[in-house]
Amino acid sequence: MSETIIGVVGAGTMGQGIAQVVVASGFTARLYDVADEQLSRAQGKIDKGLSKLVAKEKMSEADKNAALERLNTSTALEALSDCDIILEAAPEQPGLKEKLFRDLSHLSSDAILASNTSSLSLTRLAAVCERPERVVGMHFFNPVPVLKLVEVIRAEQTSDDTVKRIEQLAHDLGKTAVPVGDSPGFAVNRLLVPMINEAAFLVQEGAATPDAVDEAMKLGAAHPMGPLALGDLIGLDVCLAIMEVLQEGFGDPKYRPCPLLKRMVDAGYLGRKSGRGFHIYD
Ligand code: CAA
Repeated sequence: MSETIIGVVGAGTMGQGIAQVVVASGFTARLYDVADEQLSRAQGKIDKGLSKLVAKEKMSEADKNAALERLNTSTALEALSDCDIILEAAPEQPGLKEKLFRDLSHLSSDAILASNTSSLSLTRLAAVCERPERVVGMHFFNPVPVLKLVEVIRAEQTSDDTVKRIEQLAHDLGKTAVPVGDSPGFAVNRLLVPMINEAAFLVQEGAATPDAVDEAMKLGAAHPMGPLALGDLIGLDVCLAIMEVLQEGFGDPKYRPCPLLKRMVDAGYLGRKSGRGFHIYD
């Protein structure tokens, strides 16, 4: 049987993590991004991520080097034309994702096109593709090498065979697939992001400081990190975008984004990636 080649579109936080897991699991990855610097940064991060596994004796140095050899990068989308499965992890902009899916479906009529979208409709994405039955959601969680869940989202058009192949891939990547319907925010983000938004309201109202909110939820609800530190990890711009999708998708005012969250995003305080969010980072 020929080797499975996995394309990864977008070398941001999620794309890097996905590509790391793909090569660490023995697959060849073709990582695509529009920016060369982003690809170099991703290669550095993946190298560092795999080194953690070597340091913990979960991977040998030789296996790490072999994994890095299976990682190919390109700024040309055509480099993905021989992929069996393409995992899209581009920025959360509907127009951008639709264009990518249209282009990818022209590029390869046989590949399964899976989106890591955190909240957009898979049914709409599938509708712009030539083979909509091959479009599916495969939603990873940050940090991807650590968290075990993959939400598998079936669009209206997705075939059983596509779902089966994505569930198999999740298993091969050491993840657990959980099926979720194509509803705004799916399951995890619909629960998690309104909690982060509510935590921002607590700070806006002066009811608690960010440190107090985070400490309270770590000690009082056994969360591994507080909701505001988690918002900083996810990216406050991503959290805001998810709240907007929930608000628009359900038309329910309970999903109103916190004005403080909006102001922070406007100011460029996006969390860890910008060095400042609800907390300050080096
Ligand atoms: N590659 C490989 N291993 C890695 C790694 C990487 N890039 N990063 C961390 N690790 C390993 C570490 O080596 C460590 O391994 P051991 O357990 O063997 O020691 C383990 O992962 C934990 O890492 P750390 O010790 O550095 O950190 P920690 O124990 O403080 O945990 C955390 C950090 C994993 C982020 C934890 O706080 C956590 O799980 N937080 C919640 C994260 C969460 O909820 N994420 C979901 C966000 S929502 C989302 O992503 C969806 C969306 O669409 C927005």
